[in-house]
Amino acid sequence: MLDSLGNLKRTHYCGELRAGDAEKDVVLMGWVHRRRDLGQLIFIDLRDREGIAQIVFNKELDPTTHAKAEGLRTEYVVAVKGRVLKRGKSNPEIATGEIEVAASELLLLNNAKTPPFVIEDEVNASEETRLRYRYLDLRRPKPHKNLALRHRVLLEIRKALDELGFYEVETPMLTRSTPEGARDYLVPSRVHHGQFYALPQSPQIFKQILMISGLDRYFQIVKCFRDEDLRADRQPEFTQLDLEMSFPRQQDIFETIEHVMTRACAVIGVNVKGPFRHLDYHEALRRYGSDKPDFRFGMELQNVTSFFEAARETFHFEGNVQAIVAPGGAAFSRKQLDELSEYGKSAGAKAVYTAKVTAEGVASSLEKTLGAEKLKELAAAVGAKPGDLIVAATAKEQIPHSDTSLGVAGLLRLYLGDKLNLIDRTRWEFLWITGFALFEWSETDKRWVSAQHPFTGIVEEDLDKLETAPWECRSKGYDLVLNGVELGSGSIRIHRQDIQERMFKALGLSPEQQRQRFGFFLDALTYGTPPHGGIALGLDRVVTLLAGEKSIREVIAFPKTTAAQDLMADSPSAVDTAQLDDLGIRLK
Ligand code: AMO
Repeated sequence: MLDSLGNLKRTHYCGELRAGDAEKDVVLMGWVHRRRDLGQLIFIDLRDREGIAQIVFNKELDPTTHAKAEGLRTEYVVAVKGRVLKRGKSNPEIATGEIEVAASELLLLNNAKTPPFVIEDEVNASEETRLRYRYLDLRRPKPHKNLALRHRVLLEIRKALDELGFYEVETPMLTRSTPEGARDYLVPSRVHHGQFYALPQSPQIFKQILMISGLDRYFQIVKCFRDEDLRADRQPEFTQLDLEMSFPRQQDIFETIEHVMTRACAVIGVNVKGPFRHLDYHEALRRYGSDKPDFRFGMELQNVTSFFEAARETFHFEGNVQAIVAPGGAAFSRKQLDELSEYGKSAGAKAVYTAKVTAEGVASSLEKTLGAEKLKELAAAVGAKPGDLIVAATAKEQIPHSDTSLGVAGLLRLYLGDKLNLIDRTRWEFLWITGFALFEWSETDKRWVSAQHPFTGIVEEDLDKLETAPWECRSKGYDLVLNGVELGSGSIRIHRQDIQERMFKALGLSPEQQRQRFGFFLDALTYGTPPHGGIALGLDRVVTLLAGEKSIREVIAFPKTTAAQDLMADSPSAVDTAQLDDLGIRLK
């Protein structure tokens, strides 16, 4: 028999009771986390959003309530009336460990099937089971903590932007394709058979139109949809903090974001101050082998190609050789060196060469080919000291207009930084990356494509090269990086219609294609468009870093699998023929 809640009012959360609450009469409600039956006494750990409180049922003092408690099982939903007492022996493991509640009344509000896994942070179940039973997975303390943090961060960001005069404006979810480099999710129209809406990859065009409309400062915490290959830091639907300003200097956008991030970090008690460091894109690549360098440790790349020039034939390599000096790496075992080499190959290396530097000299299989003298010179040139390991790599793949050895060495740098514990996890290293090229070469399409998106502004002095030497054009784009993660990206935009048309043309769009895809936007640009610019941050990534998590799935209530499925709701799913008929769709 289940009891009804009736008019009973909860007085406290389980997790908030402390020694100071002793002798209070309380009403608690929650889930039976654990039950221990000692015959005369039954203990239950009662759990709610805020934590756990121990409840005692004493047969001698209250045989009726005690008898009722005998029927309790894990995850049953109950209400308990009782008195808070100081425990004889406190439990330092839990926040409420100094008290317990002596129950005088028990209401059984609902029972529960035995869950497929124990509701604890150290959950012993596959990710698939956890996602299938996400409602149970979310009962664990960690997801509660992460979602609470997410709430507080979003709230703080909204407050910070409101104080700076930004309006939050919602833009359409049913819209047309916005080019952000991924595939669109399409929604068929019932009213217009054969026509489709696209879910927004970002609100890019709408936020620019809001500037044309004179809104001046816009922001939105907004869902974006991209059909792309998923990884730990990517979801098919994710949330952006999107913003745009009229008449801005790049500086104004940076200061706005620095203010927002200072406030967001304060939520976890981390003190961050602007201005953030700036780094040129090409310099970032050259020194760190990445456009999102992790600045929490050094170990910069060094171009050592000249030392290997004579061995080009023997080693059969093309392109450059990049070296890093790993402090303490000389202690690596044979097995660790093999793992390093394996990792390097999976990261695109043609070969990974190593040399151990000791007090006696430099030990390396490179000696055979380079000679002892050259090897010593190499060690001196890269500044290696006894105890260091020199790691040098060449790239397997060669791509026109880019030095692939840098990316490979950049990944090895991260690998070694992690293995050698060089990363100071207490540091919060924000970086602005600027100086991007406007276009990048697409090997798949065999043409120049936008490095960011086609609305990115062009450095004025390079305008003349748009048609003649697009690869030389510099963009007015910037990225925000935190601890080696790309948090966001934005730019000062093109606000002149003639330049926007030239940009589309440079990307290979005919005048007809331009009209068909962007006609409304090109028209809007002709009615007095102010200079404007903005940025979008990946909010899931921001919260992931603040929560100290590895995957964005840990800070999203209902994430999708890497195969873009929702295992709980079982989507995507087939639909009725009647529904397809309505939409005028027949499946192939
Ligand atoms: P961009 O495409 O760089 O820029 O996206 C901005 C930020 O959004 C996050 N992000 C993602 N997060 C999770 N899953 C994904 N699939 C995903 N894709 C992107 C990243 C990224 O840095 N309209 C422009 C912004 C602008 O120019 O103002 C844009 O969307 O953190």
